Amino acid sequence: MTLPRVLITRRPPGSVVEALGSETEAWMWPGNRAMPRSELLAQVCEADGLYCMLTDGIDSELLDAAPRLTAVSQMAVGVDNVDLEACTARRIPVGHTPDVLTETTADTVFGLLIAAARRFREGMEDVVEGRWGEWDPLGLVGWDLHDSTLGIVGLGRIGRAVARRASGFRMRMLYTKRTRDPAAERELGVEFRSFEALLAESDHVIVLTSLNSGTHRLIDGDALARMKPTATLVNASRGQVLDTDALVQALAERRIAAAGLDVTDPEPMPPEHPLVSLPNCFIVPHIGSATVRTRTLMAERAAENLLAALGGERMPYCANPEVYRS
Ligand code: DGY
Repeated sequence: MTLPRVLITRRPPGSVVEALGSETEAWMWPGNRAMPRSELLAQVCEADGLYCMLTDGIDSELLDAAPRLTAVSQMAVGVDNVDLEACTARRIPVGHTPDVLTETTADTVFGLLIAAARRFREGMEDVVEGRWGEWDPLGLVGWDLHDSTLGIVGLGRIGRAVARRASGFRMRMLYTKRTRDPAAERELGVEFRSFEALLAESDHVIVLTSLNSGTHRLIDGDALARMKPTATLVNASRGQVLDTDALVQALAERRIAAAGLDVTDPEPMPPEHPLVSLPNCFIVPHIGSATVRTRTLMAERAAENLLAALGGERMPYCANPEVYRS
């Protein structure tokens, strides 16, 4: 019996490569960086299944180069790097990894919020650069989380996990999303607001909406101008949901107080970019889901998706389930 051929674009954590290798003819890109596009196009032509990362562009060009491909499985929940329509048109299911990273990412969001609102970066730089003088009654005063108003843009799985944490901080919680969610309102005590009203009322705004044509640069100069000058902004979705130039200006002119970012545009963010030198901007390099346990679970979920599809079964976590409609 011939085994299906699988291309793995970068080493995932745990023993997933070995697991895939026992059921498929798996080949993994040996580099320790994202697979170069030219290599990806060259290698994918023989693949029946693709195990990919969010740094790989899965578009029509790639699909055209992969005549045998019957399944794409990404080790991430976000699939904005995958042309879902093009995959669906070719009846290729696309796997992703929801649920397993929800709580870890919500922890990161809270870390970013605390770090930005309480000015951890400036404090740390003072310590490292020898500016830590005597205790100063006016020194590095920031903005409280407890008893403040939190605005969540995009109340999906991670947004709800953030809300559960926020209630422990006695925060008043607002949310905005395309359709109102009465069940979440009852369960979590969140209040619905229009996007504009949420920006104006919130002390802290957390962006968790997925990236698509409707959310690209959703947080632009106009949105930032609606926020309080004392407000903190956290982005843990995708960098392109935010207009970076507008954010640089708003932070530099203190039109908002601070930002905490797990994702940026561009990504990676070059160290010479103006955003990086702003003292009120706390950036970490897309590590929202980066714990040993969670990344291992993501890797396993992606393998589970791929093996199911290659075995002729329905992918358990499919980002384009319409592919299964006849
Ligand atoms: C995702 O899964 O989409 C995150 O951005 C990486 O964990």
